[in-house]
Amino acid sequence: MSTRTRAVILISGGGSNLQAFIDQIQSGNLAVDIGLVISNNADAFGLERASNAGIKTSAIDHRQFESRLKFDQALMSEIDSVQPDIVILAGFMRILTEDFVNHYRNRLINIHPSLLPKYPGTNTHQRALDSNDQWHGASIHFVVPEVDAGPIILQGRLSIDANDTSDSLQQRIHKIEHFLYPLAVKWFAENRLSIDIDKVLLDGEISAEQLQTFDV
Ligand code: GRF
Repeated sequence: MSTRTRAVILISGGGSNLQAFIDQIQSGNLAVDIGLVISNNADAFGLERASNAGIKTSAIDHRQFESRLKFDQALMSEIDSVQPDIVILAGFMRILTEDFVNHYRNRLINIHPSLLPKYPGTNTHQRALDSNDQWHGASIHFVVPEVDAGPIILQGRLSIDANDTSDSLQQRIHKIEHFLYPLAVKWFAENRLSIDIDKVLLDGEISAEQLQTFDV
């Protein structure tokens, strides 16, 4: 009997990536159950998306905790209550402690709107424009204690147009993300991913499928 992969998804805001997961699961393309969606912000629209899909939600306000560690401990105990196989950061805007990251080692993934290792942190679209880059995109990676680092599972790139702005890039990259993130989780759920020191292998090798080019 095949058991479905259980996921917990952490969000802070709109949750369009969360919606992409919900859509792929509902259309039968992704054999994953989202056991719980947690937001650090009770007003996050993503919580509504989850409720509309019949998914359990929880809001844990980081401002109620005296330290980052205490918040992360509360987060961990909420996450572990559903015993997930994978924890997915989908626009979760908090830096996580080393304890948290180590607790979910090799089953904690994040999406970042740049072609890592370029532009960790914020304001990635403007930084790509300011550098006159030809390519920009999004990266999905296993999380390590260093922010926006960690072995890269999958990247999607697009060619920057002369008339692109930070806003247009954000929109174009969101489209890529909605395709890439469910795909990366599908690979995880199908046990196709392994980590070789600092590289992620797909079916035991570095694959051309791990860098995809989009015309969006
Ligand atoms: C995405 O662009 C992701 O790369 C970044 O946060 C954004 C989340 O968007 N980490 P949404 O809440 O999924 O719409």
